[in-house]
Amino acid sequence: MKKPLTRRAFLKNSVRLAILAVLGVGFAGRNNLETTELTLPFANLPKAFDGFRIVQISDLHASFWVGQKYLDQVVTRVNGLNKDLVVITGDIISGSINDFWKRWLPTAGGSYIPMVAEVLHGLRDGHKFAVLGNHDQWDGRQTERQLVEALKGIGIDVLRNQSKTIHRGKDRIAIAGTDDVWFSYHLDRALKGVPARTFTILLCHSPDVREDLDRKSNVELVLCGHTHGGQVAIPYLSHRFIPIRQPGRYLAGLVKERYGYTYVNRGIGTLVFPLRIGAPPEITAVTLVRGRT
Ligand SMILES: [Fe+2]
Repeated sequence: MKKPLTRRAFLKNSVRLAILAVLGVGFAGRNNLETTELTLPFANLPKAFDGFRIVQISDLHASFWVGQKYLDQVVTRVNGLNKDLVVITGDIISGSINDFWKRWLPTAGGSYIPMVAEVLHGLRDGHKFAVLGNHDQWDGRQTERQLVEALKGIGIDVLRNQSKTIHRGKDRIAIAGTDDVWFSYHLDRALKGVPARTFTILLCHSPDVREDLDRKSNVELVLCGHTHGGQVAIPYLSHRFIPIRQPGRYLAGLVKERYGYTYVNRGIGTLVFPLRIGAPPEITAVTLVRGRT
């Protein structure tokens, strides 16, 4: 006769089932893309840029778990939005993190640069800018160079401690971008070429960059990512594992600053484990308007 289930065994099985359910929910939710619409007012936005639209994506983490099919959906969604500019704020690839899975899934390793370049080649309309994240730079100069070349080859301008100016009639704004703070980051160099008194948007991977902005810079808006919104967002806990300063404040979303705003995008892909709970992947559409900040 079969032994009755003990209370201990029953509890053990319940915990296992609960863990499996949570993992299942996280796995299923990892690609539930959300589009965040934001309207940000700036007192000194040049007239010709009133209504200027920027679509931001970040932390694609092209890898075994973040594949072409899902990234194609992201590009289709971006293409469906009205915009003047697309920006990608780093961690386009996952770098050597892919090797973590190679032990169990032999096909997980290798370069995902050709795949992500093919996907991003599908982006239509307007200027396209990108900056590098820690995972784009972690594998050394060769990988970094391959990625930058691949992006340039499909018309994406990679801002490596540089800036570009966008003109509309007599008006202009500047888009500056830095390398990642853990690698070849140089903010002064990125802002050096910005003409005096020019409304500036700064692209960077980590929100930590905002700490280096002084009152003299013309930066009004910082667009960044890196945090994945915690990826598995457990209140009062997740932010403790995010390697940034003030992780509670900069985990995700809009922060009002003395210079304007910082926006921390939750990212597209996942890192290490293909799970997202309470931090869905995000495309951000920002409309700049003239008005009181
Ligand atoms: Fe990332």
